[in-house]
Amino acid sequence: MSPVLILLLLLPPLITAVSSPLQASSTTWNYTLQGKDWPGLCQTGLRQSPINVPLAHDDGERAQLKEAGGMDVRMWHPYQKGNVVSLVHNTIQADVSGLGQMVFVNQHGTVGQYEPMQLHFHAPSEHMYGGKQYELEMHIVYKSLDIEGKLGVVSVMFDSREEYSGVNNGKSNTFIESLKVREFVKSMVNGAPSIQQLSIENELPLMRLLQRLDTSQIYHYDGSLTTPVCSEVVSWVLIPDIQAMQKDQIQYFNAMWKDSPQFANGYGNNRLTQPINGRHIYAKSIPINPLPTNS
Ligand SMILES: *[C@@H]1O[C@H](CO)[C@@H](O)[C@H](O)[C@H]1NC(C)=O
Repeated sequence: MSPVLILLLLLPPLITAVSSPLQASSTTWNYTLQGKDWPGLCQTGLRQSPINVPLAHDDGERAQLKEAGGMDVRMWHPYQKGNVVSLVHNTIQADVSGLGQMVFVNQHGTVGQYEPMQLHFHAPSEHMYGGKQYELEMHIVYKSLDIEGKLGVVSVMFDSREEYSGVNNGKSNTFIESLKVREFVKSMVNGAPSIQQLSIENELPLMRLLQRLDTSQIYHYDGSLTTPVCSEVVSWVLIPDIQAMQKDQIQYFNAMWKDSPQFANGYGNNRLTQPINGRHIYAKSIPINPLPTNS
């Protein structure tokens, strides 16, 4: 039997709505200080994430940008029913393991193959482009098939503001809608969702979202997980094609985090950007007219 079939057989039966006690997660870390108090490598590491990609014309670290026109990223996530969405470590996480692949051609032309694990969200965004922060960042986490213990994470931004989504409250983003974030929010009691897990009956339309992404510009650098223990094992692939969504779609994420008085003193679930420390950030092409900073 093929490994894929064995995997499918091992998948747990579908769970529709598992309620669990109010204590959301039993993890010991939190976002009260936006990550400043996290221990270990989170404090001492020199290759940490997220970062501000130094695009702004007045950013002294712009010299760290290196052009690498041969870089490329391809993601393949075939039709897969019954993805489970869970509240894990202060984020919404969807399991996308089992089928699919990500291929990344790096600045040296080396082809890396990866298999999907999960995707999750940060609001507001963790990475920034030229000092600009976005309303929502998705991380699709992949495991390297070439180097044991190494991960590849693809970052995609979403934003409901007029600049990215147009006027009249933008267009509903069907991918975001499929994650049922509003159902977690509707279940909130005393500032925390009482539902911990939902299963998506239909397909998670991830492939449709990814097929539409403009990957003519991508950025790549070596960094870390953005949550404890901040392991420096991540090959980051940032896709700066900001996706449109509606205002109420971001408001559902914010209801659980940034706008929840119980969450983190008005902060979202984003770690602050980390020093670049001399790392190179590879750009498929270096923008000639960088965006001015908005700070
Ligand atoms: C957040 O984590 C820190 C460090 O573990 C802890 O001291 C603090 O009490 C936590 N705060 C909340 C609100 O849980």
